[in-house]
Amino acid sequence: MNFFSRDKKTAFEAKDTAQWIAFGPVIFQVARVLRNSGILKVIEESGSAGLTNEEIAEKVSLSVYGVRVLLESGLGLGLVLVNDKRYTLGKTGHFILNDPLTNVNMDFIHDVNYKGLFYLDESIATGKPVGLKELGNWPTVYEGLSQLPKQTQKSWFDFDHFFSDDAYPKVLPLIYKNGVKKLLDIGGNTGKWAIASAKYSADISITIMDLPGQLDVAKQKIEQLGLTKRISFLPVNLLDETVKVPKGFDVIWMSQFLDCFSEEQIVSILKRCYEALDENGKMCIMEPFWDRQKYETAAFCLQQTSVYFTAVANGNSQMYSAEVFIKCIHEAGFDIVEEKDHIGLSQSLLTCKKRK
Ligand SMILES: C[S@@+](CC[C@H](N)C(=O)[O-])C[C@H]1O[C@@H](n2cnc3c(N)ncnc32)[C@H](O)[C@@H]1O
Repeated sequence: MNFFSRDKKTAFEAKDTAQWIAFGPVIFQVARVLRNSGILKVIEESGSAGLTNEEIAEKVSLSVYGVRVLLESGLGLGLVLVNDKRYTLGKTGHFILNDPLTNVNMDFIHDVNYKGLFYLDESIATGKPVGLKELGNWPTVYEGLSQLPKQTQKSWFDFDHFFSDDAYPKVLPLIYKNGVKKLLDIGGNTGKWAIASAKYSADISITIMDLPGQLDVAKQKIEQLGLTKRISFLPVNLLDETVKVPKGFDVIWMSQFLDCFSEEQIVSILKRCYEALDENGKMCIMEPFWDRQKYETAAFCLQQTSVYFTAVANGNSQMYSAEVFIKCIHEAGFDIVEEKDHIGLSQSLLTCKKRK
């Protein structure tokens, strides 16, 4: 489905959208503050009766002036409605307040990206994540993940897990079919997939390969669960081209991992996977591709997430289209033997084998 081949807006609608873009940061912050200050919540609780500006100000312990500025901006956004000076919740306000996807995206944008995005032009010009300096002094955000301030770290992990968590139960039976027993989880992060795998079947063993900071967190969790006999750890930086991928695995699994790298880096990692697998081995890649989405809003979320990689994460990667990504797989010497789209919220699963 190509959502992007035709301009669906009238000129009037397009000029309206252009104003939403021009005021984008204002709109974003107003919606966030209306949510975080409790204003949307007290309005929701008031139901169809609604509340006046003064009643809201009293309930959330803010000034009448402050609440008025927020509410009047919120009217323009459709977050709230006003009748006889009483404010009620609009449909968009309902989603800003209650929708898990919206909340995860909003917190990720505010806590991880907002300040860093100011440096987007420099990041595009240099190919470096210039905005990362707002979070800390690392070459990429991944080296800093385990040291991020608490709220920033929470928003990063909530965002990351939101898009893979609901896909895991659906892909576990697909990955562990036909007697797969030994799996290498590259970019296994805090061990969520490894733990889900160990719980899925008693005769599976998993090795997680990731940066040392992430593996320390994974190790702690896995020790607490008593799974250390089944799950082992390989701390590495795969940007170091001398780091090899170990042999002896039935499957190499990479979930939301390769989008952390440029196309050249992806090909380099995949070539190392090629060296590691034998002719029966499989490489399974789960990624959310923006050009494989069922809904335009899902494609939109992924297209906008790309900019985090540019300005904050590493300066050279993105949420890829399947078209660009699959070229890297072929270049590394693999054929795709199976493709499955629309898994969970947004994922696709590509099963690959070495080209004969
Ligand atoms: C977006 S997370 C994916 C987590 C998990 N696989 C999932 O499905 O949610 C990407 C992971 O890749 C790891 N990573 C990024 N750059 C890396 C590198 N240069 N070497 C090793 N691991 C890296 C990060 O530490 C992080 O755990």
